[in-house]
Amino acid sequence: MTMRVAVAVSGRGSNLEALLRALGADAPARVVLVVSNRADAPALERAREHGVAAEVLSDPADPAEWLDRLAHHRIDLLVLAGYLKLVPAAVIARYRDRILNVHPALLPAFGGRGMYGHHVHEAVLASGTRESGATVHLVDEVYDRGRILAQARVAVLPGDSAETLAARVLSVEHRLLPAVVLAAAAAGRPVPLPETVESSS
Ligand code: GRF
Repeated sequence: MTMRVAVAVSGRGSNLEALLRALGADAPARVVLVVSNRADAPALERAREHGVAAEVLSDPADPAEWLDRLAHHRIDLLVLAGYLKLVPAAVIARYRDRILNVHPALLPAFGGRGMYGHHVHEAVLASGTRESGATVHLVDEVYDRGRILAQARVAVLPGDSAETLAARVLSVEHRLLPAVVLAAAAAGRPVPLPETVESSS
């Protein structure tokens, strides 16, 4: 049976695009719903271009609205891909262990409230670490704290800016997130990936 996936987005949607491309007609998982807290999120347009339902949450803090939309589309798995609001606790409770998030650093480092977008990469650069990467993890009630399912590493290079590092991390996010969703579809539930993907490019 095909795993029915919803993707929550707030902005650009490049991870959504990577998922839409990876989950073709024969894939064991399919994106059937994209939800956003922002009507002007470019990601919604990407969803529509792929013929996927694209819906704007009228109140992202209202669990009943979330649960109605997820139930209506018979969602098995919710993926947060650049979704910048907290998902209501009642939604997390109902979909326990069936919500994923992609984060642009190697959690548990450089995560938590306020650690999103360029803030993450600036903190990584300021720390002097030589390595960063992407993490896909289960979502619980606390930002970026749930069980880690997969990570991909990239080098932090001399002369990196937040922009160059973000681009390097994003390219591994685009491989890692579909890999975790496909593994979840194969197993019937999110599972850790057996190997960490390594990349120095
Ligand atoms: C990604 O870096 C993701 O890790 C973070 O937000 C960014 C979203 O980018 N949570 P996009 O909207 O998928 O292009």
